[in-house]
Amino acid sequence: MNIDNIDFYYFSGTGNTLLVVKKMKDTFEEEGINVNLFKIEDSNPANINPEHTIGVAFPVAYLSTYPFVWKFIKSLPQVNGTDIFMVDTLGGFSGGIVGPMREIVKKKGYNPIGAKEIQMPINVFYIQDRRTNEKKIQKGLIEAEKYAVDIINGKVKWDRVPVLSDGIYLLSIGALKLIGVDLHQKFFLFNPDRKKCNKCGICLELCPLENIKEGENGYPEHGLHCEYCLRCVSFCPRRAIPAKFNYKGKTYRGVKAKEFLK
Ligand SMILES: Cc1cc2nc3c(=O)[nH]c(=O)nc-3n(C[C@H](O)[C@H](O)[C@H](O)COP(=O)(O)O)c2cc1C
Repeated sequence: MNIDNIDFYYFSGTGNTLLVVKKMKDTFEEEGINVNLFKIEDSNPANINPEHTIGVAFPVAYLSTYPFVWKFIKSLPQVNGTDIFMVDTLGGFSGGIVGPMREIVKKKGYNPIGAKEIQMPINVFYIQDRRTNEKKIQKGLIEAEKYAVDIINGKVKWDRVPVLSDGIYLLSIGALKLIGVDLHQKFFLFNPDRKKCNKCGICLELCPLENIKEGENGYPEHGLHCEYCLRCVSFCPRRAIPAKFNYKGKTYRGVKAKEFLK
């Protein structure tokens, strides 16, 4: 496959997807391909360059991905045969994203060349110990490197599993709708612990959705547009943001916070 330039759009909540994207970037660059990285949360899909190969990378969430990642994909402009590949990272099982996303980009005139799902440490619910996570990361990065090599050699595919993936996609749409409901947002609202928080403001800077504002007495306050990527929870230097659904309050981070700060 003849690839000169890749524009790689990614979102990563806690670092796993960023690690995969960086590994793929290094691998492409070793083969002489120019790679530009763009954060999905800071990018306007209308401005993509249809002359370049497009890459998209994101975490699996709710058997699907975050609503704002879907919004980015669904807002991509119509093109005439631009090559596109995707990669997601996940803790266990997705099922409902690869096929439906393929249909969306195909309808927009893209040529879906490859899709890959890469297991990385789970960053929510039951977070495993550091050694287990490190092993998973090493395994995941080997897969990421192989995937990039296979893309260059034209050995990848972006398939669709009919019925199963469509069914799971429908399920995930239900879940994604639910997280947009105010009552749900209020129930799971992140409430920084004022005894621990020192008002450093990192969480405001980290939130990809600008959903955290400076509130009463300078303490951070979460709004009702959270998509639960867990970045604020995971990278709070004082562990001051408890998440109801994290077992024993454990948090996960695949990289250092500075990777996400501007
Ligand atoms: C809110 C939320 C929902 C998730 N849902 C799933 C899921 O449905 N299936 C799965 O395999 N992993 C799921 N995960 C785990 C992440 O996909 C996985 O840990 C991923 O590598 C995190 O990537 P990141 O560090 O780039 O954010 C979920 C994580 C979060 C925070």
